[in-house]
Amino acid sequence: MHVGIIMDGNGRWAVERRLPRAFGHKRGASKVTEIVTACPDLGIKTLTLYAFSTENWNRAAHEVASLMKLFRGYMQSKFLQLVQNNVKVIFLGDSSPIKKVIVDQMRKLEEATEKNDGLTLNIALNYGGRDEILRAVQKFGMDASTGKANPKDLTVESFEKYLDTKGQKNPDLIIRTAGQQRLSNFLLWQIAYSELYFTKTTWPDFSVEELSQILMEFDQCGRTFGGN
Ligand code: IPE
Ligand code: IPE
Ligand code: MG
Repeated sequence: MHVGIIMDGNGRWAVERRLPRAFGHKRGASKVTEIVTACPDLGIKTLTLYAFSTENWNRAAHEVASLMKLFRGYMQSKFLQLVQNNVKVIFLGDSSPIKKVIVDQMRKLEEATEKNDGLTLNIALNYGGRDEILRAVQKFGMDASTGKANPKDLTVESFEKYLDTKGQKNPDLIIRTAGQQRLSNFLLWQIAYSELYFTKTTWPDFSVEELSQILMEFDQCGRTFGGN
């Protein structure tokens, strides 16, 4: 099973407690560890987490900086745990605007966990669904111009090879925390037939129990993919 999560509500969690937003993000990061650890027991084979969108650069500079610091800290402190727990980490998104020290760590983590075959953990960092599709079209265009690909032969399957999620199954279920019922540019191509679940719980307050409850509800929904 492939589950995607739009981890929203860190800011509101903090503001409700009269804390700086950065505290909410910190809490959110520890929630990531809790959920990632629970995935194998819940039957989740792939988890895709929306960590930072292509639009999130529009936030105050200090908030962007604290998020970047948090990503670095997460990768450093969880490196061994992820390697040893058989987690395969893949980053989705355009890494080109991200600082080199962070990108180096991302690549190191991907390489160190490349051969792991337990949970696949996709971390969407500077990710936007539209941006991903545009980058895929650009790559396809390059292949077409050098004769490596023929526009006439383009199919859903051959196009998917150009996406950041190449070789992976599409998500079965997308969960968004903190009440908003929108996708905010998450996995636009891949979610064509995904089930969507919105919970009012903020991400720092989300729990393994709630996730397992959602999965039980998901089990009962019939998916027909346009058939009957
Ligand atoms: C989600 O929490 C974390 C990121 C977008 C990085 P928010 O920071 O969006 O929290 P709210 O939506 O303001 O409560
Ligand atoms: C979506 O949350 C992005 C992430 C969770 C990383 P946002 O808080 O950025 O989305 P909007 O602004 O509510 O659409
Ligand atoms: Mg938000």
